[in-house]
Amino acid sequence: MTVSQHSGSGSVADLGSSPWDSQHSEHDYRVTDIEGRIPEQLRGVLYRIGPGRLDVAGHPVDHIFDGDGMISRVEFSDEGVRFRNRYVRTRSFDTGNRVGRPPRGFGTQRPGGALANVLRFPANMSNTNVLRHGDHLYSLWEGGRPYRLDPDTLETLGCESFGGALTRLGAFSAHPKTDPRTREVFNFGLDFFPRPMIRCYRISAASAFSEVRTFPIPRLAFVHDFALTERHLVFVIDPIVVRRPVPVILGLRPFDRALSYVPELGTTVVLVPRDGGEPVRIEHDALFHFHVNNAYEDGGDTVVDLVAHDSSAGWDGWNGHLHDYRGTPGPAFGGQLRRLRVTSRRGRVTEETLADAGCEFPQLDQRRATTAHRHSYVASASVTGGNPDSVATIDHETGAIRSFVVGDGNTVCEPLFAASSPTAAEGDGWLLTIEHQAEQRRSRVLVLPADRPDLGPVAAIGLRHHVPMTFHGAFEARAQGR
Ligand SMILES: [Fe+2]
Repeated sequence: MTVSQHSGSGSVADLGSSPWDSQHSEHDYRVTDIEGRIPEQLRGVLYRIGPGRLDVAGHPVDHIFDGDGMISRVEFSDEGVRFRNRYVRTRSFDTGNRVGRPPRGFGTQRPGGALANVLRFPANMSNTNVLRHGDHLYSLWEGGRPYRLDPDTLETLGCESFGGALTRLGAFSAHPKTDPRTREVFNFGLDFFPRPMIRCYRISAASAFSEVRTFPIPRLAFVHDFALTERHLVFVIDPIVVRRPVPVILGLRPFDRALSYVPELGTTVVLVPRDGGEPVRIEHDALFHFHVNNAYEDGGDTVVDLVAHDSSAGWDGWNGHLHDYRGTPGPAFGGQLRRLRVTSRRGRVTEETLADAGCEFPQLDQRRATTAHRHSYVASASVTGGNPDSVATIDHETGAIRSFVVGDGNTVCEPLFAASSPTAAEGDGWLLTIEHQAEQRRSRVLVLPADRPDLGPVAAIGLRHHVPMTFHGAFEARAQGR
């Protein structure tokens, strides 16, 4: 099924095969092209999501964050592997089909100048991450509400407000954290009226939604991710702040142009007790980061692992590459895995570099989330400034870094860990990633040994088409097919 009524323009395709080519069709089929052997213990569902449609009727979106959310589902069962992809039926997706152009996004303006954009908030593309909780599957976008999807068919069931609890902006960020011991989910949402604040949420194991705590922040900042320990929600708030809002409100410039990196403001770490107690703030030197990998309590300290980036180009330099997403990604995959140790009683944060290799999209064996972990999994660029073409396992105990590079100009995405069994030791399992094959203009799902990705995939699942670069996803062990 082809979903865009205006698909097929040559203007984007003529630029050559790119992991950022739109996939306008929706597929559903049993995969027969499998190299190697799917491990018998690998059973479950891999969900991936990203901006699948980066041009509407031949009009490319101007920013990597502004493509329509497309979710892919890869089911590993005793019958084999099944692939399915569907677009999230957001309001903007339907409108795009009708009017034949992208909506105003984070970095994309509607055609028609200021009048066409004035007082318009960026459209909710629901393209950033998924949350699997209980019987529910949600697609997420950090500036608005989640969409509820059928976990099997991927049909869009509607926009979710959790019983009206997500009010006003309704932001429910794209990096919720699940405590593997309690099955609680914690998340946050930015709000700016009447003043900038962060709202913290909890969803119980039984799917009861509640607000944990709301705390003010001195200025509206770009806060993409957070961390969870057994006791705290941990926010590392960098000085990527709104400095130039007026031209944006007037419709003269897109939203991303309102942001600036202002290192003299420093980074603020905020520890919010999970029971809703008083938050503690600790000031630190300015950092520039997007993703956190894990966090945990260690004695009286709180430890947070994140991917820190070179901030010398500032927000504008960084963001320029997000606009030029079909060009070079610049520093996007050249981050450094770093460990912050927050000693709140002394009001101090210390930093340690965990690995020199450039990386992004950090992951771990999610059964270790909120407690100390030994292995981190990352996507990285083997060439500085290049696209992500390798998956690496970092062993924090030995310091070993083992990488698999796909080569041939192909790319990979965030690797997700799948355990070989629920009781297997940490790291005993596989890494799942989607390789975009530039020349073939197709994608493969790669299954790599998590401890030795350098040995190459044990299985490569050849899809009939390509899957555009995905941002994030989830692996659910043991599919509950209906
Ligand atoms: Fe993210």
